[in-house]
Amino acid sequence: MNILGIETSCDETAAAVVRDGCEVVSNVVYTQIPLHRQYGGVVPELASRSHVEKIGEVIGKAIADARAAGVEELDAIAVTYGPGLSPALLVGLNAAKGLAMSTGAELVAINHIEAHLHTPFLYDAGSEAVPPPRLDRSYLGLAISGGHTNWIDIPRYGEYRTIGQTLDDAAGEAFDKASKLLGLGYPGGPVLDKIAREYGTENLIPFPKGRPREGVAALDGLEADLCVSFSGLKTALLRYVQRHDSGSFDVAQTVASYQEAIVQSVADRTRTALRRRRGIEALIVGGGVSLNSRLRTVLADLCEREGVKLLMAKPKFCGDNGAMIAGLAYYRRNVVGDDAMRVDATPSLEIG
Ligand code: KG4
Ligand code: ZN
Repeated sequence: MNILGIETSCDETAAAVVRDGCEVVSNVVYTQIPLHRQYGGVVPELASRSHVEKIGEVIGKAIADARAAGVEELDAIAVTYGPGLSPALLVGLNAAKGLAMSTGAELVAINHIEAHLHTPFLYDAGSEAVPPPRLDRSYLGLAISGGHTNWIDIPRYGEYRTIGQTLDDAAGEAFDKASKLLGLGYPGGPVLDKIAREYGTENLIPFPKGRPREGVAALDGLEADLCVSFSGLKTALLRYVQRHDSGSFDVAQTVASYQEAIVQSVADRTRTALRRRRGIEALIVGGGVSLNSRLRTVLADLCEREGVKLLMAKPKFCGDNGAMIAGLAYYRRNVVGDDAMRVDATPSLEIG
């Protein structure tokens, strides 16, 4: 089954064709990062306009590349309907609806966060295949991106329940805001990652590890010790910078310490979740922050110690892309057919 996936929830215009849920036949991503860089963050109206300009070309190339690889026909068209920026989501959603109507292919509406959790199962056509998800096994999911930091119980592939999450900023946001504060550029994640990698993990400043107050999380029906808060860490960084005149503190040491605080708080909650849930098949990690080299190392060590398999996407599938939308659609028909035709952009769509 060949599915075209379309993704425009934030600042990537993306489309891909995926065969049987995991084999990526074509994958086209146009990133708007240079457009938003001058503003230090994504400007929704500019994002939407840029999606409109590029969507036709990106979808056209994904289909043409798939044809060149032997795909004759599309069986379904999958599209992100949330969460994300409303004017950006609408561009992809309308393009997908139009295409489904004109071709007669089935329309599938997909949750962006769930799609990130499918990325470890994606592989390029012609490269070594990755084992597909085990449909009858339970997993622990960690969705970690610019908008989300969620620990998700997956009792069976396709069933999700958020058991912990950030109570304020997402991990990616914490990276981006620190980078802005330190004048290091946008997006912050890759910049901070590189600086921290070169500095190492010796002699770090003890920034707070982000444990939220008990009770706050319990209100939302989440497990309090699986929640995290990054606002205290952000304030600690601000105070640290204010206390030191520019030039009188070591930027690399500060960045490495800040990153370590994020990584260790994420690892801590993940360890707690893994120990609480016995008999899980693997930890699935997805989202832009899963590109972070320190996080990858720390989670690999953690999973080895806990005796759990770690499933992380290849770097090319970590950021937003259409392949994760098309791939998940094969397994998880979130909203399909006529219902999908009626679906609206849902900016604050949750998972589980
Ligand atoms: O998944 P994604 O592309 O978009 C959302 O769904 O949000 O994630 C983007 C986020 C940004 O905050 C970016 O700074 C972060 O992922 N990011 C990283 C790294 N690469 C991207 N964070 C930490 N380390 C990285 N290497
Ligand atoms: Zn994303």
